[in-house]
Amino acid sequence: MTLSRRAVLGAGLALSACDHRELSLTAPSHLPPLKDVAQFPVGTCVRSDFLADPAYAALVEAQVSQVTPEWEMKMEYIVGDDGAFRFDAPDKIAAFAKAKGIRLFGHTLVWYIQKPKGFLNLDEAKTPFATAYRNYITTVVGRYRGQVVGWDVVNEAVADEGDGWRDSLWSQKLGKLEHMTLAFHHAREADPDAVLFLNDFYLELKPKKRAEFLRLAEALLKAGAPLTGLGTQTHCGPELPPGAIKAALADIASLGLPIHISEMDVSPARARGLFKSRAELEAGQARVYAEAAEAFSQLPARQRFAFTHWGLRDKDSWLKHEDPTDTPLMFDDQGRPKACAAAWERGLR
Ligand code: XIL
Repeated sequence: MTLSRRAVLGAGLALSACDHRELSLTAPSHLPPLKDVAQFPVGTCVRSDFLADPAYAALVEAQVSQVTPEWEMKMEYIVGDDGAFRFDAPDKIAAFAKAKGIRLFGHTLVWYIQKPKGFLNLDEAKTPFATAYRNYITTVVGRYRGQVVGWDVVNEAVADEGDGWRDSLWSQKLGKLEHMTLAFHHAREADPDAVLFLNDFYLELKPKKRAEFLRLAEALLKAGAPLTGLGTQTHCGPELPPGAIKAALADIASLGLPIHISEMDVSPARARGLFKSRAELEAGQARVYAEAAEAFSQLPARQRFAFTHWGLRDKDSWLKHEDPTDTPLMFDDQGRPKACAAAWERGLR
């Protein structure tokens, strides 16, 4: 007798669903603030315009001890088409963090996706590319020296499937590894204290990509780059196999450097095509968050740099642009804690 694909999948789901029964799926009426339950800094990404909303600002202040500018500390915001820099928005975020006694994390200096016209239109006869590159990094890092606790110096350098390192404007102009070692040296020159990170995504989903990420980290260290932290973004889904995050963190921790879970969200919408009911998607989401909390908590204290959620309220998530019905974060649109937030906190204990 041949089983239909749906029957095979259905059987699999039935089994996987029973794994989640022990997870309470009711939203908690009250939950201690995320930062009060964790034995490490808890962060979120923020946008300067959102901070003008008192309810949003109050939620950030109550729940986290670190903030990452979601996009306003990237080249796409700072570098004008004429090469001039603007800092009004990141300065607002820095001022908010300072006023609230919240740590500030810098994101991100060099990213393959960003190639602003200010660099593309550079008159290299007047200003060599390497000079403009160094000037950008030392100016941005130097501006927030003494406040930023860490920087994503290089973001998403490993190819999607782990087959080597990405090509980019930066690699073409300055060399595949060289542009990265230079970025770390320039950042260290501008700030002697900030933790300097290599950051990437899908390290929990793709072991081959994770292996290449660690090879790149070792190559940077061998080349003398002041790489002093590893960031794993952890944008994932409820279908992520149990144990995947635990295995990834153990691997990444093997280099002995501080680790930043830098951008976590768990997207039910991205898993919707897997024949899962809403209840199963939410149970899977709670399980994944709980595993991440537990695995991160089990790292040595010196390696627990911070755990950053890529947003707090569902409605603020970048994933809403992909699917407006997505609910990937810890809090609902009204800022109330969800079942996955309770699961995350339980995972810390
Ligand atoms: C995203 C922001 O959330 C969006 O608002 C922006 O439009 C695009 O970038 N990995 C990263 C982050 O390192 O910088 C990305 O943030 C999400 C994926």
